[in-house]
Amino acid sequence: MLIDTYGRVATDLRVSLTDRCNLRCTYCMPEEGLQWLAKPDLLTDDEIVRLVRIAVTQLGITEVRFTGGEPLLRPGLVGIVERCAQLEPRPRMSLTTNGIGLKRTAKALKAAGLDRVNVSLDTLRPDVFKTLTRRDRHKDVLEGLEAARDAGLTPVKVNTVLMPGLNDDEAPDLLAWAVENDYELRFIEQMPLDAQHGWKRDGMITAGDILQSLRTRFELTEEGSDERGSAPAERWIVDGGPHRVGVIASVTRPFCSACDRTRLTADGQVRTCLFATEETDLRGALRAAPEDSTDGSDEAIARIWKLAMWGKKAGSGLDDPSFLQPERPMSAIGG
Ligand code: GTP
Ligand code: 5AD
Ligand code: SF4
Repeated sequence: MLIDTYGRVATDLRVSLTDRCNLRCTYCMPEEGLQWLAKPDLLTDDEIVRLVRIAVTQLGITEVRFTGGEPLLRPGLVGIVERCAQLEPRPRMSLTTNGIGLKRTAKALKAAGLDRVNVSLDTLRPDVFKTLTRRDRHKDVLEGLEAARDAGLTPVKVNTVLMPGLNDDEAPDLLAWAVENDYELRFIEQMPLDAQHGWKRDGMITAGDILQSLRTRFELTEEGSDERGSAPAERWIVDGGPHRVGVIASVTRPFCSACDRTRLTADGQVRTCLFATEETDLRGALRAAPEDSTDGSDEAIARIWKLAMWGKKAGSGLDDPSFLQPERPMSAIGG
């Protein structure tokens, strides 16, 4: 079990498969991209599957989410999912993606054992998409979403970050579109995780702003707190149901006390929190000793992971005056 000193138990593992991305969202990375991790530093497919195996067999992980950068850019993705689906106990598996390429891979991912996907889309307007992501790929995302839904990777969730003057007038249109297409829309408050360190609290659209904007067109009823569990999204029932809309209010309504997450970066470092300033090197441990030795055994790796989680801090620290943004940007952490 991955338990911390506050009694929280991590059952949800987020694995970043690459730090690379084919978009350049302005709230995430600069136009020129970032200094990508070098290939030898990345976990291999075998190492990823082994760490997921350790997580589910030794550490009580039941949910595995693959993230990036953009995880569809990882050539071995389908194989990784297929091998993880064969683990006992089988974890539930999901993917967080920008949707580009999903049209081509949705069916194969479903066949490999992926349960569902979350797709990032911030706007319904192709021109705004181009400004925001610096790439002209709006159509690919919409097609990817449809392919995911048609392949049964459901519920398909859509993640939206609203920014003042860019897309903050689109909340009701996005919700109408999501209801019509059977996607579950979630609005995310922008967090200080951009590579450019340009985040400002007063430049952020809050959960309060979003709800106010949605209520101009929809009747929203709060879902019971029993249904939330440790999910980051608070949900509202739209116009009496059955559709829901979510808000992930990491900044104005933090949910750290219920956090059930542990993270692995693409270069094999455990992060106990999105905002952690320290990491624990599992790749080094995997590569230092053979699997059949005492130091390299699944049990030994599991012990290092447990010790890392024991050091998990109470919260993100976003409200502390001494808050420091982590060195790794969002794209290299995996969201
Ligand atoms: P579901 O299981 O579908 O609810 O997934 P999710 O919402 O946890 O995952 P997703 O990858 O879609 O993330 C949506 C947003 O939630 C992203 O902006 C993530 O950065 C954010 N998020 C995910 N986990 C955490 C967390 O532990 N803390 C905070 N503050 N935000 C998180
Ligand atoms: N704050 C909030 N959400 C972000 N995302 C990327 N960067 C940020 C940020 N700084 C979102 C993406 C994606 C999800 C994984 O995180 O839009 O949907
Ligand atoms: Fe890529 Fe996601 Fe960052 Fe956009 S937010 S550039 S899709 S990693």
